[in-house]
Amino acid sequence: PVGIQTGVVLFWFKMKVSRILWLLCKKSGVRTQTVCTGVSTNQQHKQLSSTSAVYRYSTTSSISHCTALIYRKHGDPAQVVQSESMNLPNVGAKCVLVKILAAPINPSDINMIQGTYAILPDLPAVGGNEGVAQVLEVGSQVKALKPGDWVIPRDAGLGTWRTAAVLAEEDVISLPNDIPLLSAATLGVNPCTALRMLTDFEDLKPGDTVIQNAANSAVGQAVIQIAAAKGIQTINVVRDRPDFTTLIDRLKAMGASHVIKEETLRRPELKELFKSCPRPKLALNGVGGKSATELLRHVQVGGSIVTYGGMAKQPITVPVSALIFKNIKVQGFWVTQWKRNHSQDEGALRSMLDELCSLICQGKLTAPACSEVGLQDFGTALDKAMQPFTSAKQVLVM
Ligand SMILES: NC(=O)c1ccc[n+]([C@@H]2O[C@H](COP(=O)([O-])OP(=O)(O)OC[C@H]3O[C@@H](n4cnc5c(N)ncnc54)[C@H](OP(=O)(O)O)[C@@H]3O)[C@@H](O)[C@H]2O)c1
Repeated sequence: PVGIQTGVVLFWFKMKVSRILWLLCKKSGVRTQTVCTGVSTNQQHKQLSSTSAVYRYSTTSSISHCTALIYRKHGDPAQVVQSESMNLPNVGAKCVLVKILAAPINPSDINMIQGTYAILPDLPAVGGNEGVAQVLEVGSQVKALKPGDWVIPRDAGLGTWRTAAVLAEEDVISLPNDIPLLSAATLGVNPCTALRMLTDFEDLKPGDTVIQNAANSAVGQAVIQIAAAKGIQTINVVRDRPDFTTLIDRLKAMGASHVIKEETLRRPELKELFKSCPRPKLALNGVGGKSATELLRHVQVGGSIVTYGGMAKQPITVPVSALIFKNIKVQGFWVTQWKRNHSQDEGALRSMLDELCSLICQGKLTAPACSEVGLQDFGTALDKAMQPFTSAKQVLVM
């Protein structure tokens, strides 16, 4: 009958369009929030508005819907992010059904919603790039995961701000489920960034020094702890604030060797400090602007400055003398690119996570200071995540 033929043609056409879109996204480096049926999360959102289509992909799995924080256009997160119910697809053969347990709000999540980040998912999209989930169900061909396992995303753009998801097995990687929940939820981005930057740019030995700004950021806190575990000294630069002494105490308790204010970088007292510790081989810059230039001035001859963030939204001025007379290497790092470069090398990501989990188990690496917030209070959490001087990572707990 004509109706069936039309249906078959339409279905074939839909599959082709979806494949072409997927290939285009893959080629451009933009991620579609894929799920296992081959139907993207974006397509699922579109199905939500069509009642007849809603139940086509739901479901024989134990959970048929989830609550998700979705944005349909770019803009101020407070204005564009809303909580919506989303139906879940069947758990395909190579897929897993997961319950998201906790997911942080990172600056890159905010930038993605604002539309200013280097990679942007198709809209509408579920917010969140990081988080830990528990496997509830696995498809018939899933080999490496079982119910109860904890998993984190392998790449950016998964859309973690939701209560549950059906994901391709290959999009996630397992973690031990006996580490603290907040450590697991915040492991995949910031500690990985800290470890790579301390490993891949300079050959740091015990006793060497690293200087960093935004030292109270999640990346900064991981740098302090991983460096301390390796016997590397850290000079930690933070912005002045009313509770500066409390912050010094907190960072020193984590293993910070020195904690100074931004303005101290320009003062003679820093020369005093370099009488007791060597000049840094490595500077880590998460701020940009003047702060980065000031860090650079203190790096030893032949050392490196690695930029991983630009919180001040200001370009960096590199003094000519730093290049000519000190031969400072000026470089950048992006953990997303590192993960993509190593996506065919299963051992690289696994051994990095193992090293970090081992530090966690030894009590040498704790989660950054966090505020746990229920998913329903996401508005407050987004607001706090964008305020200065909060000194606490907002983590959505589902
Ligand atoms: N390249 C990569 O692979 C990579 C990976 C992870 C993170 N990042 C980037 O690293 C940065 C930190 O991320 P996070 O998750 O660790 O941050 P976070 O925990 O949310 O902390 C934000 C930090 O930025 C500081 N800050 C905010 N606005 C500032 C300004 N105008 N001037 C100076 N400092 C400012 C804050 O200092 P106050 O307490 O003084 O407000 C705080 O230290 C972000 O830019 C993020 O996108 C990059």
